[in-house]
Amino acid sequence: MGREVRNHDKFSKTISDIKLDEIWMDAQKFKIQQKQNEWFTFLNEICKLGDPVDIIIEIGSYDGGSTVSLSHITKELITIDMAVTPRFDEFGYPEGSQVKGSAYIRQKCKFLMTQPNSHNVTTLEEVKQILNGRKVDVLFIDGDNTQQGVKQDFNLYSEFVKEGGLIGVHNILKSEFHTQHGCFIHDFWDEIKSKFDGVEIIDDFAIEKTNDEWGGIGIIKVTKELLETVEASNNQPTIDNNSFIQPGANTNTVVQSNGGSMLDNASYMGGINY
Ligand SMILES: C[S@@+](CC[C@H](N)C(=O)[O-])C[C@H]1O[C@@H](n2cnc3c(N)ncnc32)[C@H](O)[C@@H]1O
Repeated sequence: MGREVRNHDKFSKTISDIKLDEIWMDAQKFKIQQKQNEWFTFLNEICKLGDPVDIIIEIGSYDGGSTVSLSHITKELITIDMAVTPRFDEFGYPEGSQVKGSAYIRQKCKFLMTQPNSHNVTTLEEVKQILNGRKVDVLFIDGDNTQQGVKQDFNLYSEFVKEGGLIGVHNILKSEFHTQHGCFIHDFWDEIKSKFDGVEIIDDFAIEKTNDEWGGIGIIKVTKELLETVEASNNQPTIDNNSFIQPGANTNTVVQSNGGSMLDNASYMGGINY
């Protein structure tokens, strides 16, 4: 397991500065919720697999900053978010243009949005149908902030990632700021980082400034062992009343779904506001 403290000026780049500038300009228009250094490092790791890669699944879009960024480096993007109509579809891009958020993203790649909750059987089935047996290069998890919620996303959607592909998990930093905002992703990350040889991308600024302790992206390379472990854990019967899909349930099982979340909506519906 490695912790990589990065400044994007320091890493060996796959993506050109010009392209990174273009991505960041778009990301800011869509109010990205990522730290630039960490985000560039993650995008760079993705592009080592191919530029563009074939397919990315993203869980948690919010205003679309990560979504529009990813659209620059993939041929196809499947985004899952609670928002039935994403906020970025209210605005024109560039400002004032008739081209709304989704249409703007579609100029760059094939883009499909599915709603509402990543933990719903229907959402999972929709993703399965879209993929129709194809595997994805990257799964980026930035949705439910609870330990159990992020674990479910990891367990349910890892199976779609090809061996050698990447799983990125955002907000892994253990910090008071995260805890105060109901974000417990670090607890899940602690569970899996050594098991699957995760790499932590933490902006050095966050380490120096104690009042800026948010973010952090964990990256895991998908191996055969990881896929087998996740499959075994998905087949293990367990009881978890906080879940739409019980972690041990067969995903074909019809489970309760009210289109919303049984978890604490206030803590993560709009994500953390930075
Ligand atoms: C932190 S924001 C995402 C920020 C975005 N990735 C970025 O970097 O700009 C979290 C998003 O996840 C969504 N979300 C939270 N829990 C979810 C769930 N279980 N299923 C789908 N979306 C979820 C929220 O609606 C919110 O838009």
